[in-house]
Amino acid sequence: MTDPLTSSATPESAAAGCPVHPGAVPLGGLEYQQHPDRLYRKLRQEHGSVAPVLLDGGIPAWLVLGYSEMHFVTSHDELFARDSRRWNAWDSIPADWPLLPFVGYQPSVLFTEGAEHHRRAGVISDALEGVDQFELEARCRQIADVLIDRFVGSGVADLKGDFAHPLAMRAAVQMCGMPVSGTDTDELVDDLRMSLDAAEGEDPVAAYGRVGARIQQLVKDRRARPAADVTSRMLTDAAGLSDEEIVQDLISVIAAAQQPTANWIGNTLRLLLTDDRFALDLSGGRLSVGEALNEVLWLDTPTQNFIGRWAVRDTQLGGRQIREGDCLVLGLAAANTDPQIWPEGPVGAAANSAHLSFSNGEHRCPYPAPLLADVIARTAIDALLERLPDIVLTVEPDELTWRPSVWMRGLTSLPVQFTPAPLSSS
Ligand code: HEM
Repeated sequence: MTDPLTSSATPESAAAGCPVHPGAVPLGGLEYQQHPDRLYRKLRQEHGSVAPVLLDGGIPAWLVLGYSEMHFVTSHDELFARDSRRWNAWDSIPADWPLLPFVGYQPSVLFTEGAEHHRRAGVISDALEGVDQFELEARCRQIADVLIDRFVGSGVADLKGDFAHPLAMRAAVQMCGMPVSGTDTDELVDDLRMSLDAAEGEDPVAAYGRVGARIQQLVKDRRARPAADVTSRMLTDAAGLSDEEIVQDLISVIAAAQQPTANWIGNTLRLLLTDDRFALDLSGGRLSVGEALNEVLWLDTPTQNFIGRWAVRDTQLGGRQIREGDCLVLGLAAANTDPQIWPEGPVGAAANSAHLSFSNGEHRCPYPAPLLADVIARTAIDALLERLPDIVLTVEPDELTWRPSVWMRGLTSLPVQFTPAPLSSS
């Protein structure tokens, strides 16, 4: 493995003091969307393990592509920190920049640093640790049955829109204290979907406002009548977070939980339905659902890029000169497939869990969130395959398309057919 601070694959990289230089490559586009691995290969060849890229609107940033460089960045928050107000490019960011909702500073756990982050993230971890995994599994099965009942009689479904997304959303809000079903939960789930991924004619800002109001109400209700849920545990934690802090962090938890878990389910179902090593497994094959889930984290990880970190002072990374306030995008998918760690290709990825899909360091996906995501995803897939054992795609595998997002890797839809079956008895 290389030294993350000084190693460089290209001699010209040492001269590239600023990301705005002729070699910077736009991060995105149709080709990227369908074959991100090709762009990573090209970037590695041309720039090494830290490449200058252009975000939406031609805004410069560094993409960290190397496994060892990613490890270094995420382990050294004294050098690469999380508060986006450190950015040296704010003067060139337009008010309607599409990434503003993700990058603009908010007073939530996501953007805090040091002792303050420790306090906020500790409360979240403690509250998540109180989730009973057997109960979560039972609730997810209940949610899966409700969703499957909606399409089981028709013989067709879109497993992304009809199953993976609503299931992950309902599982996340239920952990926080919303009922499994009912009008309040339905409306919150719909507003969350709209605020994260608005369809034409929908107003994401208004939807986000309603999400905030509903979470505020939940916090108020649990302050008056605590229950056995994440919200109540956050409210009673000895760290004594204010209601405003808890509202902010609950929204972060729900948003952070929902999209990646939904795409993890969707990407794994795709693998199960398109790859012979797994397809056989639906009727007793060689590799298990657990191995498919793990392989997806290596090769089609849901959070493919994460923005990000900001350099605290001038430094070097991968032979690049990084300036104070430069933005670094964590290229989690690229790092997972770094040829330095897979000299012969990703053989055996299904059985190894040293991937960086949940990131690393202080701001990594907080323990035990990855375990909870695993319970949700595994239960969802098991429930689906048990009830619809002859499920098959209705399109050719190469007709499936990926969503036009640089950040999340997920399919636009996953159309399937199966023999219509009866409603669940629950
Ligand atoms: C497949 C599922 C998931 C994936 C791939 C995933 C991945 C990630 C990644 C890459 C980060 C960013 C870490 C960084 O800044 O270095 C993150 C942060 C976070 N995740 Fe997850 N996550 C998943 C599920 C969940 C779930 C189920 C929860 C909650 C129940 C959750 C809660 C959070 C929170 C609160 C943060 C912010 C941590 C902080 O800034 O301190 N995630 N996750």
